[in-house]
Amino acid sequence: MLKKVKKEDDAYRKKQFSKLLLSWNATQNNRKMPWKGEKDPYKIWVSEIILQQTRVDQGLAYFNRFIERFPTIHQLANASDNKIFKLWEGLGYYSRCKNLITTARYISKNLKGRFPDSYEKINELAGIGPYTAAAISSFAFNLPYAVVDGNVFRVLARIFGLSQPTDSGKGKKYFSLLANEVLDKREPGNYNQAIMDFGAIICKPLSPLCERCVFNKICFAFLYKRIDELPVKKKKINIRKRWFYYLVIENENKTTVRQRKDNDIWQQLYEFPLVETKKEETLNKILKNAQKSGWITEKNYEVISVSALYKQHLSHQLIVGKFIGIKLKTKGLPIEKSIWVTKNGMKKLAFPKFINQYLDEINQQ
Ligand code: ADE
Repeated sequence: MLKKVKKEDDAYRKKQFSKLLLSWNATQNNRKMPWKGEKDPYKIWVSEIILQQTRVDQGLAYFNRFIERFPTIHQLANASDNKIFKLWEGLGYYSRCKNLITTARYISKNLKGRFPDSYEKINELAGIGPYTAAAISSFAFNLPYAVVDGNVFRVLARIFGLSQPTDSGKGKKYFSLLANEVLDKREPGNYNQAIMDFGAIICKPLSPLCERCVFNKICFAFLYKRIDELPVKKKKINIRKRWFYYLVIENENKTTVRQRKDNDIWQQLYEFPLVETKKEETLNKILKNAQKSGWITEKNYEVISVSALYKQHLSHQLIVGKFIGIKLKTKGLPIEKSIWVTKNGMKKLAFPKFINQYLDEINQQ
């Protein structure tokens, strides 16, 4: 064993890497997840799409519900968009759900339900990138492709002392080459699951468990006290702030809602008529704006409530806004592409979390 492994001793680290990782996995990793050891590519695919931007503890219940409702890809493919979106409600990043539907229907109809069994073919499917393709190929078909995501960047950057930015093209390529070099080609599925678990349990972003880590005799970041500096990111994320004022227009126990269609967040989810602004605005200004859009006329309504401020953080945006309760005195004007629904009807539609927070609160009153 080398005394204090230096940066130059990469060959030694590479040789030890998968051995140590797999031995940790066999003796200390007791993380249980329903998709672990699963061989059905359909179920693996569903779990990986859910986990693309969702934490395991949040994704678990969604995975179980999806598999219970749609045990096969044909059942998922034959369900209506609305039913699937309703099941996805609350998970966020709704383009994942849209792609899930597209891919399920493609495989069900064009491939007779047979999931593709090569990395290249899997990588071509809607909603699947190199990470998910590597996960499915290795878990379902034991193909030698290494997963490379935030967990893997962190583990490799720390153990090998890599300061290339993980958000640059060059850095990504470097990490990907190394990840595939140290991948255990005899059991790639087991190895990929092990590195994900290791990054989540031991080599965590904050307060990693270095004292009990199997790599602590060779880990560059641990030996040279660089844990907090690795991995390195180049860009600072700019957060765009958007103000959403929703008009909750009521008439004869019905409310008007419409589906979001634009190429924007929350595509295909439902919402109330929306006045979006770049900064905070007065109630008067919002109502004027709604009149201009033809949703209300100057005399046919009264404002019955104005909610507190609601917030939702997305990865690159901060949504803040209010819900303005409006009661119409006369029958509602037709609002472009919108429908009038009862309270019960609303329960069948999928709404963004921002709106569900408000609905939950008023339903409790
Ligand atoms: N994140 C993405 N895929 C995962 C998996 N299979 N297990 C745990 N976390 C994951």
